[in-house]
Amino acid sequence: MNAVSSFPYLPTASTTPLGMEVLRGLTARTKRLSPWLFYDERGSVLFEAITELPEYYLTRTEREIFAEHGDAILGAAGDSAQAILELGAGTAAKTDLLLAAAVRHRGEVAYYPIDIASSALDQARSRIAREMPQVSVQPIVSDYTRSLGELPGSERSRLVLYIGSSIGNFEPQAAAALLRRLRRQLAAGDRLLLGVDHVKDRTTLVRAYNDGAGVTAEFNRNVLSRINAELGGSFRPRLFRHRAVWNDRESRIEMHLESLVAQEVTIAALDLTVRFRRGESIHTENSYKFTAEAVKALLARGGFAPRQHWTDARSWFGVYLAEAV
Ligand code: AVI
Repeated sequence: MNAVSSFPYLPTASTTPLGMEVLRGLTARTKRLSPWLFYDERGSVLFEAITELPEYYLTRTEREIFAEHGDAILGAAGDSAQAILELGAGTAAKTDLLLAAAVRHRGEVAYYPIDIASSALDQARSRIAREMPQVSVQPIVSDYTRSLGELPGSERSRLVLYIGSSIGNFEPQAAAALLRRLRRQLAAGDRLLLGVDHVKDRTTLVRAYNDGAGVTAEFNRNVLSRINAELGGSFRPRLFRHRAVWNDRESRIEMHLESLVAQEVTIAALDLTVRFRRGESIHTENSYKFTAEAVKALLARGGFAPRQHWTDARSWFGVYLAEAV
């Protein structure tokens, strides 16, 4: 708990990023909360559990691509793999296969995982030091979604990994803006490896976000528990139903929390009372799905030239290599 979250929940919370987001989102005409709110400690554990669910094919499929094509990917990245940077690396578990391929190609590799969670980066550093001594790990604690700062490794050519479909949680404008900010930090010839989820049949997509064990529902409702814990909210999470729907027009899965009853919720730290009608929902996440053409268009808007891509046998997921131009 931080100072803001301790009783009596000072109204100054409305100036913290969490407070501002909750205030803005829950007083809007169509209630919404931003997906970054999911990731407190419990939310991060729940997300790890999601990545192992039978219905959540994304992580597994991307891994399959790395296992099968890791050498080809690093070969195509060529010289740019002198320094490997990763946005939102977390514990870097999904990166091991690529780092191993980089070691096979180059012998020694400098790896800069970037993440806001310093404990995840510590885990990454100790595991990689133990298992791949040829990789020198230099973690950077930073919220790359807000500011990229100056990226390290500029004396060498760089390969930036942005994998795991994280780009899919940004609105199209914001995704392009993030790539443009990244491009400005890179030199011509540096590469980006982007992992994205492909458009596929609706049933597979919806199941991935509405699993049988209810883990995604818990992950979604956890945002309400977080507001209770950190802002003195009075949410009863069980009075909200998890809903995942495919929006074909926008090419995205949407997650919502639908109020099962008409109710009032107070949030002490924001001095706020929020009213819900029965059936009214809070829109908590968009997860965009791409065709190959859409990924290439996004890369181009970001200032990158698509060079090559790899998919799994069903073409459910894609890994795109692009060059800063
Ligand atoms: C982190 N991100 C890529 C996940 C996704 O698939 O959009 C977050 C997630 N939401 C529900 N399940 C997983």
